[in-house]
Amino acid sequence: MDRILLRGGNPLHGEIPMSGAKNSALKLMAACLLTDEPLVLSNAPRLADTRFMAHLLAHLGVHSSEDAGSVLTLNAKDITNTTAPYELVRKMRATFNVLGPLLARMGAAKVSLPGGCAIGARPVDLHLKAFEALGAEIELSEGYVEAKVPGGRLKGGRVVFPFVSVGATEHTMLAATLASGTSVLENCACEPEIADLAGCLNAMGAKVSGAGTSTITIEGVEKLSGAHWPVVPDRIETGTYALAAAAAGGKVRLTQVRPQHNDALWSAMEQAGVTITQGEDWVEVERDPATPIKAVDIETRPYPGFPTDLQAQFMGLMVLAEGASVMTETIFENRFMHAPELSRMGADIHVRGREAVVRGPAKLTGAPVMATDLRASVSLVIAGLAAKGETEINRVYHLDRGFERLEEKLSRCGADIRRVNDRE
Ligand code: EPZ
Repeated sequence: MDRILLRGGNPLHGEIPMSGAKNSALKLMAACLLTDEPLVLSNAPRLADTRFMAHLLAHLGVHSSEDAGSVLTLNAKDITNTTAPYELVRKMRATFNVLGPLLARMGAAKVSLPGGCAIGARPVDLHLKAFEALGAEIELSEGYVEAKVPGGRLKGGRVVFPFVSVGATEHTMLAATLASGTSVLENCACEPEIADLAGCLNAMGAKVSGAGTSTITIEGVEKLSGAHWPVVPDRIETGTYALAAAAAGGKVRLTQVRPQHNDALWSAMEQAGVTITQGEDWVEVERDPATPIKAVDIETRPYPGFPTDLQAQFMGLMVLAEGASVMTETIFENRFMHAPELSRMGADIHVRGREAVVRGPAKLTGAPVMATDLRASVSLVIAGLAAKGETEINRVYHLDRGFERLEEKLSRCGADIRRVNDRE
């Protein structure tokens, strides 16, 4: 198994290009099932999660090819299978998103329920209720969702989500594109990945409007075509490297980004005393390592609020801040698994239900650590950059799910970080 060894203390200086967004790419990949023509995604990140999605799509009959750069071509000319088995769905929840496109194009599908995961129970009830509102008949049996559409074609309908869900919004959009008639989705999530998916679907000939607001309208069409679509830059990767630069100190320019997608983070970082300069497609993060970091409270919220996917990384910075800060997690019920690991490096963190109180500044020291999800793992990298001595990060496969060439991107800016493989 791979480990990452990181010796802290080096300020970071340089430029880091950002990759395409994992959480957009996975849904865009599912969209290929809606058409018998090729869908070409550029700026596609090369990650364990996208490889896993490609593996499931291959099982359904999709041919995929990646070029040496970051162009991924998916061709679902013939769907040869409408069952997504447990072993291909259980590892990653986003695979569940094949259900909607399969139903829309094939009129029936059987997809394993994804189950819970380390950060919370994460049910899919909203997804299933939305498909029923579009005319699908759904049965749950032996851990599978068996869905069919009487007459073969979904019907446009009104879906009011009881609370905001990124996955349910995207999944319902995917399914409604090929329905007969118009669908109106209310109380939708507004994340940039949703607008990205809508842009791609429209490039394929769909008629989606309002994505990025709380009401999305989809006029169903009979057929979708192939398209070329560039994956939106990864705002979570961007925020992660911004926090890494702040924790280590130095000056780093992040390129190929959409700075406006991280406004909540920039405002929290500025309050913490970090200098943020934004250009059209770049952001510069600067902090003199001798300048103290100020404690800032955050509360995770759906976009445009502070993202849950950056809460662990922000905590990695706050352990270094002077005074007490409170991190409130409102999206997932169990997303503080990084706290005990950060404490092993010398942080003072007390978790009470959905709140974590962080008291700093901690004098961090390197330690062997491990974490159970990808954002938690990368918060340990952030803390390790500011720690004295060597941090050994185990279970690197979590990082590989969502961060492309992490060691290379950080070491180019002066971090002393390397991957070791025990088999070597
Ligand atoms: C997406 O998950 C992201 N994953 C998550 O990123 C991200 O943390 C999350 O959105 C919130 O921004 C992908 O895009 C692949 P939700 P998703 O549906 O869609 C509850 C990462 O680290 N809920 O908005 O699954 C749910 O349990 C990952 O990259 C239901 O109760 O999130 C949660 O408490 C982790 N029933 C809340 O809603 C449902 O049917 C919001 O979840 C659906 C969701």
